[in-house]
Amino acid sequence: MNEEQRLQAGLATEDAPSGKTTEKDYSKYFESVYSAPSLKDAKKRGKKEVEYHDNFQIEQRFKGMGQGRKFYIRTYGCQMNEHDTEVMAGIFMALGYEATDTVKDADVILLNTCAIRENAENKVFGELGHLKPLKLERPDLLIGVCGCMSQEESVVNKILKTYDQVDMIFGTHNIHRLPHILHEAYMSKEMVIEVWSKEGDVIENLPKVRHGKIKAWVNIMYGCDKFCTYCIVPYTRGKERSRRPEDIIQEVRQLAAEGYKEITLLGQNVNAYGKDFDDITYRLGDLMDDLRKIDIPRIRFTTSHPRDFDDHLIEVLAKGGNLVDHIHLPVQSGSSDMLKIMARKYTRESYLELVNKIRTAIPTASLTTDIIVGFPNETDEQFEETMSLYREVGFDMAFTYIYSAREGTPAAKMQDNVPMEVKKERLQRLNKLVNDMSAEAMKPYKGQVVKVLVEGESKKNPDVLAGYTEKSKLVNFRAPRSVIGEIVEVRIKEAKTWSLDGEFIGVVKEEKVMS
Ligand code: 5AD
Ligand code: SF4
Repeated sequence: MNEEQRLQAGLATEDAPSGKTTEKDYSKYFESVYSAPSLKDAKKRGKKEVEYHDNFQIEQRFKGMGQGRKFYIRTYGCQMNEHDTEVMAGIFMALGYEATDTVKDADVILLNTCAIRENAENKVFGELGHLKPLKLERPDLLIGVCGCMSQEESVVNKILKTYDQVDMIFGTHNIHRLPHILHEAYMSKEMVIEVWSKEGDVIENLPKVRHGKIKAWVNIMYGCDKFCTYCIVPYTRGKERSRRPEDIIQEVRQLAAEGYKEITLLGQNVNAYGKDFDDITYRLGDLMDDLRKIDIPRIRFTTSHPRDFDDHLIEVLAKGGNLVDHIHLPVQSGSSDMLKIMARKYTRESYLELVNKIRTAIPTASLTTDIIVGFPNETDEQFEETMSLYREVGFDMAFTYIYSAREGTPAAKMQDNVPMEVKKERLQRLNKLVNDMSAEAMKPYKGQVVKVLVEGESKKNPDVLAGYTEKSKLVNFRAPRSVIGEIVEVRIKEAKTWSLDGEFIGVVKEEKVMS
């Protein structure tokens, strides 16, 4: 009996071990029925062409599965995960489930996890611990783990051993299989595990329930082939594969028609967009040039890799219009030696050259970055080079991290002679610089008028509205709630380290995008 026939027959498993399971029991189980993650397969980058599928549909037998049931998804990590959550919510709704934002009311709880650093993983294990009493109270509750952590062999083994409150684990390439996985979980007494480590395809027509009506995420590519030595992403997200331009353009047009004001194009390394096409020459610059003609006020992208940031893209970004002048350009370190060991494939000098090119073409550009401190064997001098690069570029903001060893990555095997104390002290010094320079970058705004896309109430004070400028500066101001979702003008009265306070002037009249 193949898997499909088995599912048709409503059978959960063919030869699942019964009773209390052990890791050993499961290894046989995986081979016969399920797929567990494999680091070896995740490393592979074959020549196989990406397959595009646009025939996703909810099978008749699954329709109504969610009748009278509620789902809750907790999302950890990056925007890619946030967007995956929107897709999973879309699938749940298509199955007839209702959304809830209260764990206690949920019949299915999913943790959409992040594997980028150890503390991200610890949060998830902590949360699983918190969910255990709920599962004991309500054995029919389904608890699932998905996202990047589920792609890791070691995580799946740990869950199998110690977290028997988990009913299902599925991977980042298995999201479209959610109806089947839920079905299995309802039918089976055992933990359902479906994690494909294969390189991955592109599935086009998955349903989505977007979070909000103002800003939207649009995937332009999946995966990463860069294999920076510290990073788990190439193993958890598979090989680089780009969506076809016509599908992306169509999605952005549709979002514009629905009234969205801002689009963020997503990919682990958006500058590699189009590299995998073998029938057309079409890269991120070409895509941005096409998208800027769509009548939507703001278009951003994240995340960039300096290595693939080409001249054509800079030329197109310089045309402005709805292409915002904020570029997030992770540098990771200011030391060429460190960059080499990180396998970033650029140097301090070439990064600075790129910054110079961007600034020459787009003088108003605001640059932000990501930095890792305490990479194995980073010396004081090398850390100082990061500090000096930060000053030299004059970044507006940075996300800063202490290096975290990720099992399976090359860096995890490196000897590390930097004590944690030293790493923490470096992080503190860097953060002080980041704060000081952010405060400096904010000062000139005082007295200026900025355009703000109003997102809603400020987190701290419901009487105040908040939104972001094109350069991603947070602005707080008082105005009628009717301007939520609009682009408004605000005169800045006070510049703080991370935000601006201002006075509402009025709604910006329709600005036509250049064609
Ligand atoms: N340890 C610390 N930071 C990391 N990042 C990626 N992998 C690691 C790691 N192993 C950071 C990088 C990346 C950001 C998303 O997370 O700075 O740009
Ligand atoms: Fe990780 Fe490097 Fe790929 Fe970014 S470019 S996702 S840091 S491997």
